[in-house]
Amino acid sequence: MSLTEKTVPQTSPDGESKRPSGRDRWPLAGIGFGGDYNPEQWPEETWVEDVALMREAGVTFVSLGVFSWALLEPREGEFDFGWLDRVVQLLHQGGIAIDLATATASPPPWLSRRYPETLPVDRDGRLFSPGSRQAFCPSSPVFRERALSLVEQLATRYGRHPAVAMWHVSNELGCHVARCYCDVSADSFRSWLSTRYADVGELNERWGTRFWSQSYGEWEEILPPRLTPAHRNPTQWLDWCRFSSDELLSYFVAERDLLHRLAPDLPVTTNFMVMPDFEPLDYFRWAKEQDLVSQDHYLNHQIDDPVPELAFSADLTRGVAGGKPWFLMEHSTSAVNWQPVNHAKAPGELIRNSLTHVARGADAVGFFQWRASRAGAEKWHSALVPHTGTDSKIWRDVTRLGGVLSRAADVAGTTVDAEVAVLFDYQSRWALDQPSHPTDRVPAIEVPRAVHRAFWDAGVVSDVVHPHSDLSRYRVVVVPTLYLCDDATAATLRAYVERGGHVVVSYLSGLVDEHDHVRLGGYPGAFRDLLGVRTEEFFPLLDGERVTATGASATLGDLSIDRWTELTRLVTAQVVAGYTDGPCAGNPAITRRDDRSGGSAWYVAAGLDDDGWCALLGEVSRLAGVTGMPGGGGGVEVVRRSGADRAFLFVINHTAGEVAVPARGFDLVSGEPVDGRVSVPAGGCAVVREA
Ligand code: GLA
Repeated sequence: MSLTEKTVPQTSPDGESKRPSGRDRWPLAGIGFGGDYNPEQWPEETWVEDVALMREAGVTFVSLGVFSWALLEPREGEFDFGWLDRVVQLLHQGGIAIDLATATASPPPWLSRRYPETLPVDRDGRLFSPGSRQAFCPSSPVFRERALSLVEQLATRYGRHPAVAMWHVSNELGCHVARCYCDVSADSFRSWLSTRYADVGELNERWGTRFWSQSYGEWEEILPPRLTPAHRNPTQWLDWCRFSSDELLSYFVAERDLLHRLAPDLPVTTNFMVMPDFEPLDYFRWAKEQDLVSQDHYLNHQIDDPVPELAFSADLTRGVAGGKPWFLMEHSTSAVNWQPVNHAKAPGELIRNSLTHVARGADAVGFFQWRASRAGAEKWHSALVPHTGTDSKIWRDVTRLGGVLSRAADVAGTTVDAEVAVLFDYQSRWALDQPSHPTDRVPAIEVPRAVHRAFWDAGVVSDVVHPHSDLSRYRVVVVPTLYLCDDATAATLRAYVERGGHVVVSYLSGLVDEHDHVRLGGYPGAFRDLLGVRTEEFFPLLDGERVTATGASATLGDLSIDRWTELTRLVTAQVVAGYTDGPCAGNPAITRRDDRSGGSAWYVAAGLDDDGWCALLGEVSRLAGVTGMPGGGGGVEVVRRSGADRAFLFVINHTAGEVAVPARGFDLVSGEPVDGRVSVPAGGCAVVREA
């Protein structure tokens, strides 16, 4: 096979990647601790000090050379590995494991000068320039060939070096350019479509092209969804999103396969961005191609709830990783540089953030970056070694964290106990977040976040998982705005309730099939029978409009509804709450159908606010026997990680006062035995190795 030939992800029929066992091993001992190391930005004398400081802090790994292509290959085909050899040797002598980057994340200037066709194009037809990073078209055969040639050199040279523990392919693929609209990409899109559909006729059917005279006569007429005068074809967009995610994935797989061939025992990963505001990659598909899932997370201070958002992202990362431990590749020791106002972390916050990730399944804690840069676009981004040096709040927290993580080594390999599941699907998100819908006031990420936050607030640990997951272990499953839903998902949920499970489905769920065609006969088509309701028409509310729904029993009380109402009729369900005013007054707002199995299926036909979700999920939890973590909730995160022979209770106190949480064992943070209750100071953490 030539280097440029694209490889389709190889999965077995059960969806699991096939790989030899050597790469299944976790690459680091204990809980890894480290971050991106960019020594090429510093004189060589600094490298010796770096390794000494890494040892002082307890750093166990670094991600090396992520943006070093221009130095490793200063001219096409001319390589300079001397400086990297010396860094690798120093790190090896210092006992620091290397997550070696393939360095393909930022092509050198010579590449686009010589091969301008490698530059990406945006939806409006504008060509991106070099001078930043990630300026490459994911479909470009020339880019792939040049990138793989570098990877081949690196793998051959370092693939058996004892300090190299794993590979780091590219960097945050899709972060800046996830969808390229150039002619090369258009060709690739057509060939992707031709494997998805038997012929153009089938494509016309699936895309509904009789509408607005869009019927295609031959493949060559089909284009990416570039700038159009009016609304684009929604299924074309959906397939474009699927294609673009698969296209970058095929690029990852090309690097991975080469690495596997040349360095068969080293695991390969690429750092994901499983965060609410990043949507272009279907990470559930991507995860199947990783030897281990790795993830970058940055607190977003532009939203109201950065703390629960961290928990959501970590729980979704765990869902993406199939419940297995995952690798936190990057987060920040303090401020970032790319938000309008870059909020610095309070003393202790970096430890709190780090342990929250570990509590929710991370077996490594990495940061961007080791030493704060002097120059370049990220010089105001925090690091483990700040500009100020080691006499600093950041360094004190860094060394403290190093101590805690080394004491918590046995946490590695354990898994997180969750009572409930929240379903999430990137493809449904692509379908829902399109124009020309009943309302644009409910982005697809919002209700999943609200549901997760309600559980978080109640001290209930939730898994955020793909709709095709095995749901049997959960007491409650919530289906929040799962707009696009295939028949398999509908069948899975039906079977779950028939076996006694409790499911809560929200509005804007089950409305269209996998081609984004409406399921006819009454909404929500895929779940009508499961829920025992039939909705006739939607009545979304205007901004500022609010209506009230009142619980049929006293426990729910009055619920304030905004953004969404709908005209729902009962078929086999009963009313849980009814609209008292607004366009749907007198009709159900929340319903429940009790199944013969003892399970139940609830429908939320109303735009609940946070209080409403808390009240409703509290009611469902009581029915389903969800207990939550004792002492958890209201700003105190309590999460258990357990294995066959050990269990750890994490307590993260986000409140301004001391809390006491039931526990017995030994606290690895304070170094004190715990006999009944662990006291955790304001803003502090505990990791109790349970007796
Ligand atoms: C991402 C990138 C890093 C760096 C950080 C800054 O995570 O992977 O290279 O740009 O953001 O926050």
